[in-house]
Amino acid sequence: METVLSGMRPTGKLHLGNYLGAGINYVKMQEKYNCFYFIADYHALTTHTKASELNSSISNVLAEYLAIGVDPEKATIYIQSHVPQIPELYLILNMFAYKGELEKCTTFKEKARKEGQTLNAGLLTYPVLMAADILIHKANKVPVGEDQKPHIEMARNFAQRFNHYYETEVFPMPDATNEGENLIRVPSLQGTGKMSKSDAGDSAIYLIDDKDTIIKKVKRAKTDAGPTSPNQTKPQEIENLFYLMKLVSSAETLSHFEEAYNNCSIRYGDFKMQLGEDMNQYIAPIREKYQSLINDRAYLLKVVNEGGEKARAHAQKTIDEVRNIVGLNSMNI
Ligand code: ADP
Ligand code: TRP
Repeated sequence: METVLSGMRPTGKLHLGNYLGAGINYVKMQEKYNCFYFIADYHALTTHTKASELNSSISNVLAEYLAIGVDPEKATIYIQSHVPQIPELYLILNMFAYKGELEKCTTFKEKARKEGQTLNAGLLTYPVLMAADILIHKANKVPVGEDQKPHIEMARNFAQRFNHYYETEVFPMPDATNEGENLIRVPSLQGTGKMSKSDAGDSAIYLIDDKDTIIKKVKRAKTDAGPTSPNQTKPQEIENLFYLMKLVSSAETLSHFEEAYNNCSIRYGDFKMQLGEDMNQYIAPIREKYQSLINDRAYLLKVVNEGGEKARAHAQKTIDEVRNIVGLNSMNI
């Protein structure tokens, strides 16, 4: 059976982009594959270093994984920092990652621009840690949103270099996946960029937003003055809202508003109201499940304690192999 692995950083509440780009596949894939889903707390440290924020975000993300339907009976759910084999593999993989390519990585350059002067080596080697997450379980498939594609490419490169250097096939090549479709990017409600946890304000719809909040955010989304001629090309911000509607509404609703746009009769107020209502309906079951889980600390702890144990045992097998291959097997000295 093939192995699937993915994770999210505990840097805030999960949003529709996290769910539609990746989480929804976590749930589908657990039926068919050997799945590992984790909370990337070490990765969060590269930009968010306050322990109190991190702790509450870890329990949020865990409860959100469970609320979207990730099932601890089917998938192994754990916290990255509970598996010390990951940083050990990360250290070894660092020897196969070149400074130049890490500096050129688009996500690093973007973060470097945002972070300004607080650039640290952890941020630079972020893709190496991510490769260690994936390779420690020899994952074949990695469900992620489009923004993570460059990181998976880098994981493949490091794996390939390691295999080649030691003349081994220990690491399979991982593929970024969206279950047979192209990887997706859910747009921000602000008209530009992707929906993101780190953007403050109204640009993201969180999975635990209540109905009023959702409708308020959608109402504030940027729109233009409306189409003035039939079948006019949509500006980016309108295209984005239609894309969101395609993701959460019925085909009939979508074609109704497409038609209204194309014949210039669309009223953005109605369009946004419908989109808000449909988003609310789409995420309401997740929100309710989350509320029933978030205060059940004993259950949340049980899930990650049991998941951590399974993940460590599985990861140890890879580390034993890697230590042997590299020549770090103390039994041989
Ligand atoms: P964020 O960028 O919001 O902090 P993460 O970096 O923790 O979120 O991403 C967790 C997962 O969600 C990754 O697989 C990422 O590709 C996916 N993801 C994040 N934002 C989006 C988006 N707007 N559209 C599609 N997928 C997304
Ligand atoms: N870098 C990913 C993100 O920001 C999170 C992540 C860390 C991840 N390790 C991973 C995703 C391994 C997939 C596989 O979204």
